[in-house]
Amino acid sequence: MMRAMKLALALGVTTALAACAADGGDASAYDWNDTSHDARIAELLSQMSVERKVAQLIMPDISTITPEDVATYRFGSILNGGNSGPGGNDEAPAEEWLALADAMWDASMSPTDDGQPLIPMLWATDAVHGHSNIPGATIFPHNIGLGATGDEDLMRRIGEATAAEIAVTGIDWTFAPTLAVATDDRWGRTYESFSEDPGLVSRLGQATIVGLQGDPASEDFLGQQRVLATAKHFFGDGGTGGMDRGDTRGDVDELKRVHAAPYRPAFDVGAQTVMASFSSVNGEKLHGSEDLLTGYLRDDLGFGGLVVGDWNGHGELDMCSNADCPESLLAGLDIFMVPEDWRGLYDNLLAQVNDGTIPMERLDEAAGRILRVKLEYGAFDKPRPSMRQLAGQWAMLGSAEHREIAREAVRKSLVLMKNDGVLPLAASANVLVAGSGADNIAMQSGGWSITWQGGGDLTNEDFGGATSIFAGLEQAMLAAGGTATLSPDGSFSAKPDVAVVVFGEPPYAEFVGDREDLAFRDEEGLELLTRFAEQDIPTVAVFLSGRPLWMNRELAVADAFVAAWLPGSEGQGIADVLVGDADGGVRNDFSGKLAFGWPASCAPDAPLLAAFGEGWSYADAPPVRDYAQDCALLDADRVGQLRLFGRGLNPQVEASAGGSALPNLVGSGTGFSVTAFDYQAQEDARRLNWTGDATLRLALPSGYSADPQGALVLTYSLNAVPQGRVSLAGLDITSTMTLGAGKGWRSARIPLSCMPSQDLTAIELAASAGFTVDLSRIAIAPESFTADCAGPF
Ligand code: BGC
Ligand code: BGC
Repeated sequence: MMRAMKLALALGVTTALAACAADGGDASAYDWNDTSHDARIAELLSQMSVERKVAQLIMPDISTITPEDVATYRFGSILNGGNSGPGGNDEAPAEEWLALADAMWDASMSPTDDGQPLIPMLWATDAVHGHSNIPGATIFPHNIGLGATGDEDLMRRIGEATAAEIAVTGIDWTFAPTLAVATDDRWGRTYESFSEDPGLVSRLGQATIVGLQGDPASEDFLGQQRVLATAKHFFGDGGTGGMDRGDTRGDVDELKRVHAAPYRPAFDVGAQTVMASFSSVNGEKLHGSEDLLTGYLRDDLGFGGLVVGDWNGHGELDMCSNADCPESLLAGLDIFMVPEDWRGLYDNLLAQVNDGTIPMERLDEAAGRILRVKLEYGAFDKPRPSMRQLAGQWAMLGSAEHREIAREAVRKSLVLMKNDGVLPLAASANVLVAGSGADNIAMQSGGWSITWQGGGDLTNEDFGGATSIFAGLEQAMLAAGGTATLSPDGSFSAKPDVAVVVFGEPPYAEFVGDREDLAFRDEEGLELLTRFAEQDIPTVAVFLSGRPLWMNRELAVADAFVAAWLPGSEGQGIADVLVGDADGGVRNDFSGKLAFGWPASCAPDAPLLAAFGEGWSYADAPPVRDYAQDCALLDADRVGQLRLFGRGLNPQVEASAGGSALPNLVGSGTGFSVTAFDYQAQEDARRLNWTGDATLRLALPSGYSADPQGALVLTYSLNAVPQGRVSLAGLDITSTMTLGAGKGWRSARIPLSCMPSQDLTAIELAASAGFTVDLSRIAIAPESFTADCAGPF
């Protein structure tokens, strides 16, 4: 079927498409007016019961359903969230994913005797930088690094390789690429954005979609080696002023010009699905906006695929709950992503169609769009997952060929910010490789890597076939006649010729990564760089981060500084550029250009140190600068407010119990355990459970000093009275905890002046016997107030 024609013929020249074609690409225009599936869709709809149509609209998470549920309800699609894997195991091996894909697909196709047509189910996953939920898959740099490459041909190859690895596991659909134009780097999802520049996002997003789905004109468009792509999150997700799920405000045409710019190029190449954004535009949530989800997306932008909601995004509308939301469907959503509450939602939607709240035409339209995508994808013709061309070809998952593409992407993503001549590293040198990021594949991969948040207790062993930055440097140095020695804490016995310090942000995803400002407070890298400088050891800073941050202190002391973003599984890409040849010559030059401006000061609305599009190389050396090191925010931190926990643990605070570390305040120690749960947003609260005498310790950032007039603020909820004594920083708070039981969420403000110890280097919460408390916030607030130190508070 001819569903596309060459872009150049069809569309003439638009900026994004011209760039794609100029690259030698042959992307073709997708024809959204093609009617070849219409008769089949009408026929299917005429055979389907209301129940089956409603079921097409429901997308549960694999952690809450069995194949039996799929056989009973016949959901149109399912997903695995960032924290779910087959059999409840996040780290399940690839074989189990394919086996589950078969089991679910078989259930969706098992014969019925009710005369209903059999409609294959689709499985969607967040393969947002490679098939990154699966151990052993190739993990590509996050989009922020890909933005720095500016290379559409590379994007297309990454999309193609990612599609192939997804196909190996029998999955159909990826929730990627993110087309956010992130305009405030405090946003925790900045790294999922290719750039702050709409044109660059458009070009790279379009090329990624062509890679994932194939060229619309080619035979293999959405064939067995390809997957469905998602243009997300429609729209304005990057314009919320740094607040995840926030509100993008301004003149709506101007907002569209910036934040919706990448969507038309995505639709031109046939992106089949769009995900609605959690966020709002001028106060109206996208999940409830008929104006934007229908008027703008369908009528103006001409999108003819399906719209999927985000994770319980419909439930965030004022009038809705996760299990009840006809409003989203009426606004234009086609699939509800309803990880857990699918049963209630199914019953409610059914009732609302039957009582006329939802017109039959709207149900048919949504189900019809889902069927159209399935027909385009050839779902009715594809065999069960394990019988498809690439399924079970385990050697393709993390294949040498795919890793080579990822390594090329790493090389091209590096942005050289400073070099006083220490780079390239002389091949014969003895290099010390220091810092917490040196041999830490979880850290170099960032969020959305094996788990939703990434990091935590993941180790290098969880990333089969991957190479750390140290391992890459070691290979390159040994091959050239030098040496590399790993020393995360920077200690050494023989003085090295040069030290490479790899440090940066810990992994995070979504709102957990939101920050109040761009000051980088973790002084690990700074301390190491300073210590080496004092010993006359030249240094190279390799900074791992999901965004530009104010780094003047490190830039000033390091001899060279490389922004490496979140490079993923192929750490050798760093050595490819840093290590020279035996004669001290360059093997690969830097070519990365900033896709986001880099701040020159830590103040809000900081002037730029380097602008979008800037980036230096061996051939074009970075300018020599004076790095102003004053930062009022850091001074203020030292005395004042400190959030310890709230929508996630402050990365500067270290939690432990009974000597066991509790990454992001999850895990267990002797007599104590803590689990994450949803209070007002996903995983924004913790349930702390004492089974015996134990102490939770929250170590405060070094250098922080609390205002002695301040107070410790706890937002908590208790179901039962404690069975023993509870104390906070040595102060008995048993009476407060007893009074609060059964009263729902409340806050306690406890003056620091009441604490027996004024030396607050850590906050300890101790219970002598059984005790369970839910916490959504712990902070130190500077404002002074008085209270009776006997409590209750
Ligand atoms: C899931 C993620 C999801 C997030 C929503 C997590 O629990 O694992 O897939 O994106 O919640 O905030
Ligand atoms: C995220 C989406 C993701 C979805 C499924 C949401 O929380 O916002 O980007 O695709 O979860 O994991």
